[in-house]
Amino acid sequence: MMTKLLNPKTDPGAIETAAELLKSGAVVGLPTETVYGLGANALDGQAVKKIFEAKGRPQDNPLIVHIAELDSIHRLVSHIPDSAYALFDAFWPGPLTIILPKSKLIPDEVSAGLDTVGIRFPSHPIARQIIKACNLPIAAPSANLSGRPSTTTAQHVLEDLDGKIAAVVDGGPCGVGLESTVISLAGERPRLLRPGGITLEALESVLGSVDVDHAVREKISDSERVSAPGMKYRHYAPKAPLTAVCGAPDATAKFIQKELTTGTAVLCYDEYRDFFAGYPVVSFGPSGDLGEQARRVFDALRQFDLTDAEKILAQCPNDDGIGLAVANRIKKAAGFNVITV
Ligand code: TXA
Ligand code: MG
Repeated sequence: MMTKLLNPKTDPGAIETAAELLKSGAVVGLPTETVYGLGANALDGQAVKKIFEAKGRPQDNPLIVHIAELDSIHRLVSHIPDSAYALFDAFWPGPLTIILPKSKLIPDEVSAGLDTVGIRFPSHPIARQIIKACNLPIAAPSANLSGRPSTTTAQHVLEDLDGKIAAVVDGGPCGVGLESTVISLAGERPRLLRPGGITLEALESVLGSVDVDHAVREKISDSERVSAPGMKYRHYAPKAPLTAVCGAPDATAKFIQKELTTGTAVLCYDEYRDFFAGYPVVSFGPSGDLGEQARRVFDALRQFDLTDAEKILAQCPNDDGIGLAVANRIKKAAGFNVITV
């Protein structure tokens, strides 16, 4: 299949073309404020199956359903608790996915057999225009091959999926750069399943205390039943094995410097590049700017596959604010192989 690259800046028909493709049951890459998504009609099980095929995604990993106006949520879920309305008010549209009990309209292909569904109301204007134009809820995982870092530009999407999907809509680089925060309101207490651009601190300012699933910070054993099936898979991983080095920036830089051997590559904060002169280095933002780190970390992880790195050592931020999400992605890329200095 020829993958069309659609650009709304240069082609006034781009949004309509994407919407027609989605209505016809095709799979389309679209920009959102978090990462690029791989969209299909969420009400059409056959269309949704094509997402799994294109990504090579395990069948037991459910998809998030995207809407373009708040009212659309009512027919997709069977119950909306007051806590959900509080989150809509505070954070929607925006980078927050809320897990709720699903309605009968959600096909099994979307929910992967669970009785819940994740709903997200993105703020990205192009995502919203496309969803509105096709007038359908859109199921969309991140638009990467399963296991690879998520995509934050249309070029990343083509790197992974050219020839496997009908089209990708170019909306430029994503503003947040990490996937949405996922919170479950389907259990007795609110539970953070995946940290993202809406921080734990921000959620707690609205909901009071929020449980944090232990898979956010630690490796889960193979036999364990996980709350978000996606958490059990190795993710975001460059080909070379990666070790996350956590601690104060100066201390982690000095530690990594001592560990350098032939074949080592380094993921570091911008101001530490010189520490590792002579070795392949990719930097992902200043140590004091977590927002920039979030925007750049997936692109940085992708770049190691262009080097002949045999192992990668990575500086990793602490868990404050959006640091929790940045550290979670680096630790997942490391398969939770973490050293604290
Ligand atoms: O920012 C995002 O959320 C992006 C953009 C495209 O919206 N989408 C995204 O989807 O990251 P995906 O499929 O790559 O990650 C969704 C995560 C997975 O870990 C999945 O297991 C979990 O959310 N998830 C989805 N539905 C769930 C449900 N009903 N219960 C628990 N976890 C769920
Ligand atoms: Mg993903």
